[in-house]
Amino acid sequence: MSILPPTEAKAVYVERMFARIAAGYDRVNRVMTFGLDQSWRQHVVAAVAPPVGGRALDVGTGTGDFLPQLAAWSRNGFSVGVDFTLPMMVAGQSKLVELGPHQAAFVGGDALRLPFPADSFDAITTGFMLRNVTDIAQAFREMHRVARPGGVMACLEVARPRNPLVRLGHRLYFEGVVPWIGQLLGGDRRAYTYLPQSARAFPTPERLTELMRDAGWHHVTYRRYGLGAVAIHVGAKLAA
Ligand SMILES: C[S@@+](CC[C@H](N)C(=O)[O-])C[C@H]1O[C@@H](n2cnc3c(N)ncnc32)[C@H](O)[C@@H]1O
Repeated sequence: MSILPPTEAKAVYVERMFARIAAGYDRVNRVMTFGLDQSWRQHVVAAVAPPVGGRALDVGTGTGDFLPQLAAWSRNGFSVGVDFTLPMMVAGQSKLVELGPHQAAFVGGDALRLPFPADSFDAITTGFMLRNVTDIAQAFREMHRVARPGGVMACLEVARPRNPLVRLGHRLYFEGVVPWIGQLLGGDRRAYTYLPQSARAFPTPERLTELMRDAGWHHVTYRRYGLGAVAIHVGAKLAA
């Protein structure tokens, strides 16, 4: 049975769901991905390679897992994580305390109307957010608007493995086991049932490439990781 909300109710549904699971979010992620999620984020940050002293933005930042890595690359630069679920950012506050106020900050805001002027950021990342927005094309357009000419964006999202056997194993794990991990470690089976269901409804990596191009991104490429369970797309904003 589908628990996906209708489009008009999705933003409120998503915000409430992440508020509920915020406290256990990082723990469930590490266990559910066998600890691979942080290495996928490393690939994303290496792909955008924020310049030293530059500005980086992480959209749908959640608990801010990208921020320490972005800050490490852009030494003396500044990294901003934007999200519309306050409790997620509160749960990640200790990461910002470690970085200090001169390196990183959280900002409340909507990925579909980013609260930043055009041409603001050298590097933009987003991870596991796009499944949750009501308009993926608009999210890509907004990231393009706030990127500086020559800036790079990379997006990490779920995908379905191509190999039929791996695909079957992945489906059994994702739809049968993950909701129980969510229940045991995050106390919320429903949220971790939404996860595989929203992943099934998510565009293929090929379609995501088209959406990025249509939003203005150039040189778009993608690569699969984790036996094809995730894909990282990278694109650039043309230099002026
Ligand atoms: C699955 S979490 C991913 C968090 C983090 N990026 C990571 O890699 O773990 C998705 C996050 O996207 C945020 N989100 C979803 N839709 C959003 C929107 N329209 N604007 C801002 N944040 C949004 C949620 O609040 C949630 O924190």
